[in-house]
Parts: sequence; structure tokens; C-alpha cells
Amino acid sequence: MSVLEIIVAPDPRLKRRAEPVDKVDDAIRKIMDDMLDTMYAANGIGLAGPQVGILKRIIVVDVSREEGVREPLQMANPEVIWESDDERSYEEGCLSLPDHFAEVIRPEAVKVRYLDRENEIRTIDADDILATCIQHEIDHLDGVLFVDHISSLKRNMIIRKLQKFKKLQAEEATA
Ligand code: NI
Repeated sequence: MSVLEIIVAPDPRLKRRAEPVDKVDDAIRKIMDDMLDTMYAANGIGLAGPQVGILKRIIVVDVSREEGVREPLQMANPEVIWESDDERSYEEGCLSLPDHFAEVIRPEAVKVRYLDRENEIRTIDADDILATCIQHEIDHLDGVLFVDHISSLKRNMIIRKLQKFKKLQAEEATA
């Protein structure tokens, strides 16, 4: 297993639509495991393929909050098949938009169908932070970032700051 590099916005690779997985085989399982390692190493609760340059419909999630307890979910081709009318607002962040947060309104609960790491079709009923996290990660598979859900004023401000941040990092790397 290995830790992959996380792409920071703005980057065209984060705006593309990911391709479905044909079958969850050893190669896909390796990607899922590397993504989970990468997410844990970055202290994230979710990660999607495009964030590590893999344009496949794969997400990993772990919203367990108890110290030392891991409850990883590894999903291929996740798809929301039901969503609640009730909505909730949650302050979202993203490993591709480090240190930026904004309130995003989404359905409070969802039912999601996906392929698990054994290539079995499964469904999960998610609510609260798990529902928010899964919806956020599925968005990544369609080239959508959480800032695409907020006002353009706030979005542009965050993107400008990230541009500056990336420029500084690039300068430090070559200094
Ligand atoms: Ni994200």
C-alpha cells in the first residue's frame, strides 16, 4: 500500500468526469487500498479517485470518530438511488482545498448503491455526516467540488487563495 499525491484545486483534473469501474479486481482493490492509506495519512474522512489523478468512479470514506476505531468504506461506481427531502447544512472541507471550509446544504439522508471490494453489489443507508461525506465524494466523480455549491463570490475568493498557495509551494520547491 502506498500514499498517493493529492491534487490541489484549481486543477483541470478535478473538473473531469470519472469512468465507471468494469469489475472490482486486484488492480482496483490496490487503488482502493492506496486511496484509504492516502486519506488516513492526510487525516481526511473521504477521498475520490480524481483527487489522486485516477479518473475512475472509486471513493473511500471513514467517518468513525472514535479514537483508534476504523470503519472504512471502499466503493466503486457509487450511485445515489434515493435522497431525503429533508436537508442539512454542514461545514465541508476537502483534501483538495486545504484549509478552506464552507457550509453546504445537501439531502440529510441518502441510499447509495455501489460495488464493494469483492465486486458485490451493495446498498447503504446513510444519514448525518456519512450522507454528507458520500455525496461530497460522489460529486468529485462528476468533477464537482464543494465550492461549486456555494456563492460564486465565496468560491472565487477560495480559488484565488488556493492559486496563491500553489504558486508559493511551487516557488518553495524550486528555491
Ligand atoms: Ni473533497
